[in-house]
Amino acid sequence: MAAFALDPVGALRHFEPLGQAVELARLSKHSHRTLVIWGPDYNRRFLMSTKAMTTSGLWSLRSPPSSAQAALRSNHPLKTHGSEHAAFSALIDPYFNRAAIGRRFGEIRSQLVEEIRAWRPGVSDFYRLARRLTERVAFSLLFGEEARDRFAEFGDLLHEHHRNNWRYVAHMLPVNLAGTPYGDALRSAEALRDFIDGWRTEPGSDDPTRSLFGGLATSLRADGCPYSAAGVNGAVAMVSWLSYETMATALNWAVFLLAQHPAIQADLADELAQLGAVEDLDADDLMSAPVLDAVVKESMRLITPVPLLSFRAVGDGDIAGHWYFHGTRIYVAAHLTHRLPDLYPAPDRFRPARWFGLRPTAYEYLPFGAGQRRCPGAWLANTNLKLALAALLSRFRPTPVAGARVDHRYAVVTMPWRGMPIDLAPREAAARRLGDARSGSIFRLFTPEPDRGVRA
Ligand code: HEM
Repeated sequence: MAAFALDPVGALRHFEPLGQAVELARLSKHSHRTLVIWGPDYNRRFLMSTKAMTTSGLWSLRSPPSSAQAALRSNHPLKTHGSEHAAFSALIDPYFNRAAIGRRFGEIRSQLVEEIRAWRPGVSDFYRLARRLTERVAFSLLFGEEARDRFAEFGDLLHEHHRNNWRYVAHMLPVNLAGTPYGDALRSAEALRDFIDGWRTEPGSDDPTRSLFGGLATSLRADGCPYSAAGVNGAVAMVSWLSYETMATALNWAVFLLAQHPAIQADLADELAQLGAVEDLDADDLMSAPVLDAVVKESMRLITPVPLLSFRAVGDGDIAGHWYFHGTRIYVAAHLTHRLPDLYPAPDRFRPARWFGLRPTAYEYLPFGAGQRRCPGAWLANTNLKLALAALLSRFRPTPVAGARVDHRYAVVTMPWRGMPIDLAPREAAARRLGDARSGSIFRLFTPEPDRGVRA
C-alpha cells in the first residue's frame, strides 16, 4: 500500500503476476478498502456500472469547511453521479463534441501554428511549452479567444494548485503555516478561487454563447436549482484543469517518445510533409493519416496520460470476486491493461506499426476511459495532438538532451517531474546519434529502440 501511495504507476508492475484484481492492504482499520482491477473483462463489467460511482482523487487534500480548498474540492462535477452527472455532461458536451471541434478546426489549427511559430530552436522545458499551447486551445473554447490575456495566469494558478494537492507532506503534516506544503496548498486554493471570482463577475462573462461561466450561470442542476457561485467556481476549475493539463501531458510524452525514436520520427515527418503546408491542412486528411494515428495511439498506450481511472463506490456490490461497499476506492488500471502481452506483444516497446492491424475494444484500450464517464474531450484531444505534432515536426526535430534526467510523477496524470528538457533542433539539421540520453524514472516505463522505423 505504501509503495502504491508513493508511486502508483511504478508499483503497478508488481501487480502484473497477480491476476487482474488486487485488494490493497489497509493502512489502518479506519481507512476504506482499495481495489485495483484491470483487463478487458473486469474493465467492462465495472465501467458499465459507473452510475453507482463517483470519480475520485483529483484534489483530495482535506481542509477547514469554510476554506477555498474545501469549496474547490467538493463543488465539482466529478463528485456527482446519476442524474446530476448526466445534467453536467449535457452542459459541457456542446463545447467539445465532434461537430463543435470540426467547426472550429481552422481556428485551432491557426492557434497552434501561431504558438509554435514563436518557439525558438534550442533546449527548452517542453512540458512548459506544451502547457502554454494547450491552454490556448482549451481555454479559447471554454472562455473565448478574447479572454486570452488571462490564460497564462489562470493556467499557472491551476497547475500550482494541482501540484500542491499532490505533495505528500501536505497530506501527512496538515499544518497551516506560511511555507509549509499544507499552507501553500490552502493559499493556492484561495488565489485560484479569487481569480475565478473576479473573472466570473465581470460584465459579459455570463454570456452562455461565449463562455463556460455563462453556460453554468444559465443552466439548472438536475434538482431544478441554479448552480451556486461555489458550484460554478468548482466546475470551471475542474473542467479547465482536465482540459489543458491532460492534453499537455499527452503531447509531452508523444514528443518525448519521438525524440527517443528518431527513425519513427523521420517516417512520421515524411508522411506529414506529403499532406502539404500545415497552415492549409485538411481535417479529414490529418485525422486519417495512418502513421500519425498510430504514433498518437501508441504513445498513449505506452505512457498512458491517465494511467488509473479512480472511483469511489456510492453503494455496495462485487467485482472480480471482491466485495465493495460505500466509500471503497476502486482503480481501473488502464496502464496495466495497455501492457497485457496477449493484446499488445512486446508491450514495453514503442511500436506504432502494431496499430496498422489492431482494433481493440473500448475496454482493451482506454486512454479516455470508457462507459458513462468516458472523456467528453476525446475528439478535441486527438485533434489537438495530431495538429500540434504536424505543426511541430514541420519546423523542428525534437532530440533528447544528453545527460538530462526525465522523471515522472503520478498526480492523476503521469506528468514529468521537474520539467522535460528537449532540444528543438531545426528540422533541416542533420540527425544526431542519441549517445547517453537515457536517464530518469521514465525509462522504467518503456525500453527504447532508436533505430527501428515504423515499418521495420
Ligand atoms: C489527451 C487528453 C485527455 C486524456 C488522456 C483524458 C482522459 C480522460 C479520462 C481517462 C477520463 C475518465 C476518468 C474516469 O473514468 O474517471 C476523462 C474524463 C474527463 N475528461 Fe478527459 N482527457 C483528455 C482531454 C480532455 C479534454 C480536452 C477535456 C475538455 C473538456 C476533458 C474533460 C474531461 C471531463 C470533464 C471528464 C469527466 C467526465 C465525467 O466524469 O463524466 N478531457 N478524461
